[in-house]
Amino acid sequence: MAPKSSNSKPSFMPFSLALSIFFFLLITTLVQCANGGQNYPDALHKSILFFEGQRSGRLPPDQRLHWRRDSALHDGSFAGVDLTGGYYDAGDNIKFGFPMAFTTTLLAWSVIDFGRNMGNELGNSLKAVKWGTDYLLKATSKNGIVYVQVGDAFSDHNCWERPEDMDTLRTVYKIDKNHPGSDVAGETAAALAAASIVFRKRDPAYSRLLLNRAIKVFNFADKHRGAYSSSLHSAVCPFYCDVNGYQDELLWAAAWLHKASRRRHYREYIVRNEVILRAGDTINEFGWDNKHAGINVLISKEVLMGKSPDLKSFQINADQFICSVLPGIAHPQLQYSPGGLIFKAGGSNMQHVTSLSFLLLAYSNYLSHAKRSVPCGGVSASPAALKRLVRRQVDYILGDNPLRMSYMVGYGPRYPNRIHHRGSSLPSMAAHPTRIGCKAGTKYYLSPNPNPNLLVGAVVGGPNSTDAFPDSRPFFQESEPTTYINAPLVGMLAYFSAHP
Ligand SMILES: *[C@@H]1O[C@H](CO)[C@@H](O)[C@H](O)[C@H]1NC(C)=O
Repeated sequence: MAPKSSNSKPSFMPFSLALSIFFFLLITTLVQCANGGQNYPDALHKSILFFEGQRSGRLPPDQRLHWRRDSALHDGSFAGVDLTGGYYDAGDNIKFGFPMAFTTTLLAWSVIDFGRNMGNELGNSLKAVKWGTDYLLKATSKNGIVYVQVGDAFSDHNCWERPEDMDTLRTVYKIDKNHPGSDVAGETAAALAAASIVFRKRDPAYSRLLLNRAIKVFNFADKHRGAYSSSLHSAVCPFYCDVNGYQDELLWAAAWLHKASRRRHYREYIVRNEVILRAGDTINEFGWDNKHAGINVLISKEVLMGKSPDLKSFQINADQFICSVLPGIAHPQLQYSPGGLIFKAGGSNMQHVTSLSFLLLAYSNYLSHAKRSVPCGGVSASPAALKRLVRRQVDYILGDNPLRMSYMVGYGPRYPNRIHHRGSSLPSMAAHPTRIGCKAGTKYYLSPNPNPNLLVGAVVGGPNSTDAFPDSRPFFQESEPTTYINAPLVGMLAYFSAHP
């Protein structure tokens, strides 16, 4: 099962709550000092290794997670195209293009902003980005078509099978001009454009390929507007149904293309479409469905660098977004658990924790450069205060929480043992070379035993709103890892590795 984010409405902070925010930030600092330090370089290493466990297709000789083997080597054959490779998005064996593209965008953003903090792990991060973009290039190799999913989610979810012997339907889903999907195409263009920045100096030819493709895919997304959840409703809903609309992905793609290409065209597009495409919907949400907060934070960087006064409104939106995430606000869409973790109802919570925290951290760096704080009612949130809040979230994930357990598999002395993940929970190909069929996997799903294969670095959906965690496979909201939980975490762990 794949988690889904909830749709929510904008809201602003009442002034009267400013004081409680101040106290929360103070208490956060005190709690911080009382806790033992986390091993951020170890967590960074593992957070990237996780992506190797999610790989689909033929595994390369330098694959480090050895219990995985080649899988899905005929993906695309139904449509006569090569769609091998890419990532399984979570604990199942589907390749969902929408969250895969978002994952790739956030991995690229992690490298762009925090690559200099990655030390020895930079090379592995680049490989993780490229594993995503190599696939997205295949998915966009035909003009006017984007292949957006391989695998039938209902068929897949009916079985508990290793990817290596999966025999479920590998249906290929695509969008085209008669079946538009500006959301998934926009996100795909954003991922390709962001990755072109990552590879600009490191591999100029590949970078140019990515940028040129991003431009084409964006043109297609913009010209043939529509939501893929209308065009492909029965395939993508309720799994990665775009509840929030496709407007945000068009702006998001244009923002990344503006950053990657420096062409005036994209800047003009952003200014012209700011209101039409609702840039100001700065609700306290950021994830595979909703990019509004990310757009505003991304564009604010250059405003805060003093380069683009005409984009000032994005920075005002970003400020408002920051205030809407701070603790101390009685907010229907975002709470903090008693133990201090950001909590949003519905779906996998940890995706919100990592993606919102990533924006706070990225923005705090932009603010530092501009020597600015965010005015939130009566208080001002300084870059240092935002960083403390982010560190608190990261430390919670790594073990500074009421259960004293890490939510990253393989990190620290206690971590989830029964994650909702087919490959991790079934015997490996080495341990059990013969096939385990669709329903033959059920006994492993229901087993009380720990998973035999450690999906090192996987961060799960996490505890509920009262900091309780069942560590049980059927509780998929709590125990399933996803690629888009980890992608922003990579950047944050890099930052804290360099600034312990
Ligand atoms: C959280 O999980 C615990 C233990 O499973 C349960 O007792 C509690 O009711 C849950 N809380 C909420 C708000 O769901």
